[in-house]
Amino acid sequence: MRSTIVFAMAATLLGLVKASPLQSRYVVKETHRVPREFTRESDAPGHALMRVSVALKQSRFEELERHLYEISDPDHARYGQHLSTSEIHSLVAPSAESQDLVRAWLEEHVHPSTISSSPAGDFLTFTLPVSSIEKLLDTKYSVYRHEDGSKLIRTDEWKLPLHLHEHVRTVQPTTSFIRARPQSKTFLNVPGSVGCRPEPYKGPSGGGVDQVCNASAVTPLCLRTLYGTVNYKPRAAGRNQIGLANYLGELNNRSDTAIYLSTYRPDAVKGAQEFRQISIANGSISQAPNTPAQLRAGTGIEGALDVETMIGISYPTPLLAWATGGDPPFTPDADNPTVDNEPYLTWVNYVLEQDFVPQVISNSYEDNEQTVPHSYASVVCQQFAQLSARGVSILFGSGDGGVGGVQPGGSCLSNVNNRTAFIPLFPSTCPYITSVGATVGFKPEVAAYDPKNKFASGGGFSNYFPQPKYQREAVEEYLDTIGDQFSRLYNKSGRAYPDLAAYGVNYTIIWNGTLRLVDGTSASTPAMAGIFALLNDALISHGRPTLGFLNPWLYKKGRKAFTDVTSGSAIGCNTSGFPATEGWDAVTGFGTPRFDKLLKAVGL
Ligand SMILES: *[C@@H]1O[C@H](CO)[C@@H](O)[C@H](O)[C@H]1NC(C)=O
Ligand SMILES: *[C@@H]1O[C@H](CO)[C@@H](O)[C@H](O)[C@H]1NC(C)=O
Ligand SMILES: *[C@@H]1O[C@H](CO)[C@@H](O)[C@H](O)[C@H]1NC(C)=O
Ligand SMILES: *[C@@H]1O[C@H](CO)[C@@H](O)[C@H](O)[C@H]1NC(C)=O
Ligand SMILES: *[C@@H]1O[C@H](CO)[C@@H](O)[C@H](O)[C@H]1NC(C)=O
Ligand SMILES: *[C@@H]1O[C@H](CO)[C@@H](O)[C@H](O)[C@H]1NC(C)=O
Ligand SMILES: *[C@@H]1O[C@H](CO)[C@@H](O)[C@H](O)[C@H]1NC(C)=O
Ligand SMILES: *[C@@H]1O[C@H](CO)[C@@H](O)[C@H](O)[C@H]1NC(C)=O
Repeated sequence: MRSTIVFAMAATLLGLVKASPLQSRYVVKETHRVPREFTRESDAPGHALMRVSVALKQSRFEELERHLYEISDPDHARYGQHLSTSEIHSLVAPSAESQDLVRAWLEEHVHPSTISSSPAGDFLTFTLPVSSIEKLLDTKYSVYRHEDGSKLIRTDEWKLPLHLHEHVRTVQPTTSFIRARPQSKTFLNVPGSVGCRPEPYKGPSGGGVDQVCNASAVTPLCLRTLYGTVNYKPRAAGRNQIGLANYLGELNNRSDTAIYLSTYRPDAVKGAQEFRQISIANGSISQAPNTPAQLRAGTGIEGALDVETMIGISYPTPLLAWATGGDPPFTPDADNPTVDNEPYLTWVNYVLEQDFVPQVISNSYEDNEQTVPHSYASVVCQQFAQLSARGVSILFGSGDGGVGGVQPGGSCLSNVNNRTAFIPLFPSTCPYITSVGATVGFKPEVAAYDPKNKFASGGGFSNYFPQPKYQREAVEEYLDTIGDQFSRLYNKSGRAYPDLAAYGVNYTIIWNGTLRLVDGTSASTPAMAGIFALLNDALISHGRPTLGFLNPWLYKKGRKAFTDVTSGSAIGCNTSGFPATEGWDAVTGFGTPRFDKLLKAVGL
């Protein structure tokens, strides 16, 4: 035994062991079908610069996952003991062997001083011209054009030396056609609603839902009354924060937010100037007037909906808004185009490096899971697990096209076999985040559907991520209830979503100085984030840890604090889609929150 080790060390010193694997041949690491909305246009320009991330295998991810489930399980002794950054780094750091082998390979192609490493060493990042990356990955990149005219540089297959396959999770951008762009946002305009008259504010507490809610113009006062937060006075603002993620050009305009708050929540009007903005990868935090092109594209409608709804509910909880860039639409003939289009990864890796992260984060973006390569989805989802383990509740909207994908009217064709199928959405399919569906109607609330724009609350089952244990019982009961209906159209064994829901139709917003109405799980998600932020405020002010990753608590205990939604369905793909039922369902989860019951459920 001992002599073998000595021999191996000597061999390493002499370069013998390293020499042979370096010569191992390239073998395909990943093939991903180009999504049908993209057409190959030409070869990629060799000089275009791309920022490349290599994700190394995290040595002890299974252990991190075990910690995450323990600290999020209300019956476990460690419940609420969120992990520190350094504990997480030690769990995700790649093995020395992985680091040595991957670096040795990279340094044949990239100058070592230009490779930057994440704090845990699990991501190596550098910039190279496309022609050099093609050698590195033994592939050919192409320019692909989306139906909407925008372009991406990607490939449908890439290779790695065989000895590195077990050490590298993914290299991107390669096969990932993910784009957090307008069609990935989860809101829909209500036709004919632009410029309708703001309703005056009706006083601090104008009575019950019947008095304060107007289904044609939903305001913060209505939502706060409906879900019971209207009389709650935050006491831990500052120690408690709320986060909002904007991607690729979305922005939050302070003057629109100020008009909204002065109209609908006058006591919170300072929130419009107080929220903090952080630009990641040149994301836009511009307060300049929108350009004509931005006005045409509706840039900032999603941002307005998110920031106005969140402050409208959770003020004075400080709000932090990130804007993650990377998407000046790619133009191959520009002088020095840098192609860098991996918004979720760029964002989550930035946030993971911060000492303080807001305890609840709202994300109103989704992509069809099948447009995201499995390896990329897994890497992003594992990074979300780290954020969750630090005690952050990460919320994503469940999409607006029912069972049919990101938005209504999708083709409902599987990329795998070109058969009709329900189309699940990522990141909702990631088991370490909480997915939020939408409802409509006050007495009772039902699964959201709006005939005006075909908005339907999204729900479904992953083809990538197996069903986590915390939801197995609830999902099995649901599958028993709905029987064989649709059984050939979805994957029963996958992570099922959404987990819960909130109102999502006819939200009043101010954008470009004017009132309009929007629908979407993009409305439900910031509303839900605001409510959980207030619950965290209550916990912190009682000296308790914040909620952190919600799902294990939700499926075990939290579910009782939600009003079950039992009618309506996730209309899509020319079907009625998954129906709402008693108990958990794949369109509204456990239903909508009741703040008094939530306080009770956490023992306050
Ligand atoms: C409800 O809102 C709509 C649209 O803003 C408005 O026309 C209507 O008068 C409002 N209804 C009530 C009862 O205030
Ligand atoms: C949403 O508002 C429109 C007015 O713009 C109204 O016609 C419609 O009935 C409202 N939807 C619901 C579900 O109340
Ligand atoms: C950053 O974005 C601004 C405007 O959005 C653009 O003018 C500028 O060129 C970008 N900078 C880089 C380095 O991409
Ligand atoms: C934006 O506001 C300007 C000024 O009020 C107006 O002229 C323009 O039509 C608006 N554009 C859109 C898309 O709402
Ligand atoms: C996939 O199916 C659709 C509709 O059935 C058909 O129009 C299309 O040509 C098929 N595509 C491929 C690649 O087989
Ligand atoms: C169904 O989901 C499981 C993961 O739960 C996955 O392993 C399997 O490949 C999926 N099946 C299809 C047809 O995508
Ligand atoms: C915000 O949007 C308004 C239009 O509503 C525009 O006039 C203004 O320049 C934008 N920026 C700021 C800082 O208000
Ligand atoms: C739904 O039905 C319409 C009319 O028959 C058809 O044009 C469309 O392709 C169908 N869509 C899907 C997703 O099956």
